[in-house]
Amino acid sequence: MEIDRTLLAREAVLAKEHAYVPYSHFRVGAALLTAGGVIYRGCNIENAAYSPTNCAERTAIFKAVSEGERSFTAIAIAGDTHDYLYPCGVCRQVLMEFCDPKTFEIILVKSEQELRSFTLEALYPGGFSAEELRKI
Ligand code: THU
Repeated sequence: MEIDRTLLAREAVLAKEHAYVPYSHFRVGAALLTAGGVIYRGCNIENAAYSPTNCAERTAIFKAVSEGERSFTAIAIAGDTHDYLYPCGVCRQVLMEFCDPKTFEIILVKSEQELRSFTLEALYPGGFSAEELRKI
């Protein structure tokens, strides 16, 4: 199925609306596309104890997985900065669990007209996966 990158970018921008960021004031939105064409939005959710904070990307993935989704084709990520926002290492690892690194697309949204796309493998070379566990 062809990915509508502009639509996914717009969804990521809209997802920022519910960001809960009383500490950093740094809003992030993500929009995750399933193989079946459904879009799950996610925002970052912070916590007074700081470390329980959940990134927008993981919110989107966990929402989708908790609804029974297991197959994904792309995620768009948008922040409030006037630059591309790359996913953190923890989110890249969580994506590794459910997405094919060779084909899964990470779309960075600077504006709806300025997008940058990478495969998961390009942003997370040598990422750890269940395949490693099978090597013992
Ligand atoms: N954050 C995300 O939601 N996604 C990223 O890719 C980078 C960081 C959030 C976590 C925290 O709420 C805020 O941005 C500042 O680190």
